[in-house]
Amino acid sequence: MEGGPTDSAPLVNRRVVLAARADGRPVTLENFRIEDCPVPELAEGELLVRNRFLSIDPYMRGRMDGARSYAKPVEIGEVMVGGTVGIVVASRNERFAIGDLVQGRLGWQRYAVSDGNGLSRLPELPGVPLSAYLGVLGMPGVTAWYGLNRILEPAAGQTLVVSAASGAVGSVVGQLAKAAGCRVVGIAGGAEKCAIATELYGFDVCIDYKRGHVAADLIAAAPQGIDMLFENVGGALMDAAFAHMNPFGRVAVCGLISGYDGGGTPLNQVRSILVNRLRVQGFIISDHPDVWPEALRDLSARVTAGTLKWRETIAEGIDAAPQALIDLLAGRNVGKQLVRLDPAH
Ligand SMILES: NC(=O)c1ccc[n+]([C@@H]2O[C@H](COP(=O)([O-])OP(=O)(O)OC[C@H]3O[C@@H](n4cnc5c(N)ncnc54)[C@H](OP(=O)(O)O)[C@@H]3O)[C@@H](O)[C@H]2O)c1
Repeated sequence: MEGGPTDSAPLVNRRVVLAARADGRPVTLENFRIEDCPVPELAEGELLVRNRFLSIDPYMRGRMDGARSYAKPVEIGEVMVGGTVGIVVASRNERFAIGDLVQGRLGWQRYAVSDGNGLSRLPELPGVPLSAYLGVLGMPGVTAWYGLNRILEPAAGQTLVVSAASGAVGSVVGQLAKAAGCRVVGIAGGAEKCAIATELYGFDVCIDYKRGHVAADLIAAAPQGIDMLFENVGGALMDAAFAHMNPFGRVAVCGLISGYDGGGTPLNQVRSILVNRLRVQGFIISDHPDVWPEALRDLSARVTAGTLKWRETIAEGIDAAPQALIDLLAGRNVGKQLVRLDPAH
């Protein structure tokens, strides 16, 4: 075992728990508490994972509120939820051996005891870093794949608009849509993110919404109108896109991040749904476990061929996780936001 509980010094776990609900207010460091606690002895059937990377995702903001949603909130004093990749360092579970690299939802902590449920061994594609299994080859990648292929049904020559375009989900949506022959227009915050969308990801155009004239920019960027909208933000950006949709357009409502801190995401252009006969579909990727194998086969093939690219922003150490979530919600991440939990990797 790698520094396991049978060593002379007891193994200490550091973890981040929810200290106070954020209910309708921006997240601050006071919402979290960092705790050290001993790693418990393993019971029969359990294994111990040393987490290497933690995924920081917008949905975590919703779990900090007490409001009813599609998933139950994190309780006060509970470890924050989160996707992880790590290595098995002790095992009393016959399905997992020491040294196995595993993916799961083991939360904001360095070590986690698991009974193996919800854990899977990583495929370890040559040349693909471990962190990619939390981004382009993880939940965000599959989200992009599902929303694009199963809801928007891209057709060559049509125009797709995606917001939060340079982020973990948006960047994959745009690249897959380009590969399907679509005209791709991104919307992102700032010149740097827009340059990444066009130069690294190959989008046709990226609109910097912080310049303040998204509606006019969309008309210029999508002269034939918008056939598909992959919505990640909501509010004013969604409204501007709705106003420029084509008849029989499709809208995949993936996220409404502009409203996660409260305040709502008012939509004024509801009329567009009627007059353009739009198909508007919200989705939550955890409802669709059946698509993961097909989506990951496709995404993996593109990653290993070098045709699907990604960027990461990595915060160092478990103590940095709360600030990493605050930064993500403020748009300070460039690409997939992660926390490195094991300095050796
Ligand atoms: N439905 C599902 O199952 C599912 C699964 C995964 C993710 N999602 C959703 O997909 C969206 C993107 O997630 P991600 O993981 O790829 O995150 P991400 O795009 O990598 O990071 C979040 C980005 O959102 C943008 N943002 C934050 N606040 C904003 C605001 N007030 N107005 C405009 N943009 C804002 C920022 O980019 P800019 O600087 O460009 O503004 C920020 O970098 C989120 O809405 C998330 O909730 C949904």
